[in-house]
Amino acid sequence: MSYSYQINSKEQYDAAYQRSVEAPEAFWAEVAHNFQWRRKWDKVLDWNFAEPHVAWFAGAKLNITENCLDRHVAENPNRPAIIWEPNDPEEHHRVLTYKNLYDKVCQFAHVLKNNGVKRGDRVCIYMGMIPELAIAVLACARIGAIHSVIFGGFSAQSIADRLQDARAEYIVTCDGAFRGTKDIPLKSVIDDALIACPFVKRVIVCTRTRTPVSMIKGRDVWLEDELKKVETLGLTDCPAEEMDAEDPLFILYTSGSTGKPKGVVHSCAGYMVYTAYSFVNVFNYQPGDIHFCTADIGWITGHSYIVYGPLAAGATTLMFEGVPTWPDASRFWQIVEKYKVNILYTAPTAIRSLMGFGLQPLQGYDLSSLKVLGTVGEPINEEAWNWYNENIGKGNCPIVDTWWQTETGGMLISNMANITPGIPAWATLPLPGVQPVLVDEHGTEIEGNPAAGNLCIKAPWPAILRTTYGDHERCRKTYFSTYPGMYFTGDGAMRDAQGNYRITGRVDDVLNVSGHRIGTAEVENAINMHAGVVESAVVGFPHDIKGQGIYAFIIFQGLHEDENLTRQDILQTVSRIIGPIAKPDKIQFVTGLPKTRSGKIMRRILRKIAEGETSNFGDTTTLLDPAVVEEIAVGKL
Ligand code: PRX
Repeated sequence: MSYSYQINSKEQYDAAYQRSVEAPEAFWAEVAHNFQWRRKWDKVLDWNFAEPHVAWFAGAKLNITENCLDRHVAENPNRPAIIWEPNDPEEHHRVLTYKNLYDKVCQFAHVLKNNGVKRGDRVCIYMGMIPELAIAVLACARIGAIHSVIFGGFSAQSIADRLQDARAEYIVTCDGAFRGTKDIPLKSVIDDALIACPFVKRVIVCTRTRTPVSMIKGRDVWLEDELKKVETLGLTDCPAEEMDAEDPLFILYTSGSTGKPKGVVHSCAGYMVYTAYSFVNVFNYQPGDIHFCTADIGWITGHSYIVYGPLAAGATTLMFEGVPTWPDASRFWQIVEKYKVNILYTAPTAIRSLMGFGLQPLQGYDLSSLKVLGTVGEPINEEAWNWYNENIGKGNCPIVDTWWQTETGGMLISNMANITPGIPAWATLPLPGVQPVLVDEHGTEIEGNPAAGNLCIKAPWPAILRTTYGDHERCRKTYFSTYPGMYFTGDGAMRDAQGNYRITGRVDDVLNVSGHRIGTAEVENAINMHAGVVESAVVGFPHDIKGQGIYAFIIFQGLHEDENLTRQDILQTVSRIIGPIAKPDKIQFVTGLPKTRSGKIMRRILRKIAEGETSNFGDTTTLLDPAVVEEIAVGKL
């Protein structure tokens, strides 16, 4: 398969970009003709950002899995679709060809149907990184059910919140998941979540760790048994449900600046076209290349660039169950050598953590198959960029610094491998179809270069979120009301004289910890649930490996003699309420918080203190009690 939409030179990029802005409908229609449709669209694009309302390829009928599976099975049934590397390098890896994957998705789709799942139903998937996770995702899409994958690091409480918000009546999970030396008891976490979710009708449990699990009669079933039933019934192929272009494909929860995570909704056609298009062009994917994205499918990166984008493009995608540092810090390099990986896509936090082990773990590994490197999730510092370039890419591999978000569905600003140049720590140029603008605090577009401001996007691209599940008004307020007529990303950015973008980080109260998005309000709510906590304020601080760490200032009544014990207790509460990923790195007990007379916490000052500043707090005259600042700053020493 070659791609008629593949960009092969800088000139072609310039031309494609220009056309995508001048004639977006014609541009995307041309790209979309490369996919398999049951019926083509009546209108390519219909939109207004006021409601917001965005419809791509309206009137078209399709099923994304026919594009990810059937058409490749027809052309290249034996091409590897998924290569799976287990947590334990001693265990056998698995290779699923397109035909194998097709068969497994069809069988799983029958299992879902036999268990009552219908088109439009929400299915929560809480699994480790095993092929059955990708299969479950595709099986939902096959029958038109809406999947909502939850990352394995979230707690029972977080799962319950999401299940209730999505009204998901079906769950697919595993007994447990292997990650490094850990054995995470997924089903047991689900059991705890379900105490608060009596509406859940069925839990399908896949075996992985064979850790003992409780199986509730009438609710819980083993996947293996269900697959046997499907086999006995002689059910093989499962015809794909004919979906409307704008039918929801999945919900993925993400954190914002307010307390409760939002269910970002992506729809079928635009998401498919955009993830395949961006995958092929940003990574300069060539047929036969092995693509290794190290993300977890529980995040958007895994959805778009482990599952849908690569498979829609007929690529070979590598799924890794484990962690980069187990059994030792050479694991990624072992995998690259073992499978002759051509494209490696990872997060700056992983690079920084591996840098810490020095060059020894690289010794003896052949990385010569690598052609393209990528990063995602947070700004990459120059030191990490240089290390990645010199030691992994050996100075020969372009590094694509891809900026995007859960809400954008696919990469929006990035250099394109072998097409447009990379600049350390700069995401560089927008992809065709993407019109970024910088605005000042009044919402006025800053024209001319260089410039710095808040990053917005002027017009829709095919994979833009359509709504936040069950609450369209929240979607409007969060993304389309700060700067009317534009999508507001929540990020700040700079633009250089040549029009390249550098993302400087979130301008709202969202933290980026190891590339994971966490809302400060969410962490505060969790801390405040702990007995004895009177009030708390959470800010980010620079962290060598995580990018940002979580710093919590807490007013506590009745501190234990050993403050550390209370700290540990609070961490336990945060773990229970959100999950271990939201545990603060630092907790400082204080007697007051810097507040304005109207009661607003001045986070600016707390951020400075968390960063290590002990004076120069700027104007503190509006504070109710300026003395509290000194006390906190001194307390930190
Ligand atoms: O702040 C930006 C940062 O990650 C945020 C989006 O997080 P999430 O929805 O979890 O998606 C992460 C994976 C796409 C953005 O608002 N971010 C993402 N990529 C970059 C980045 N910051 C700088 N450079 C990037 N390449």
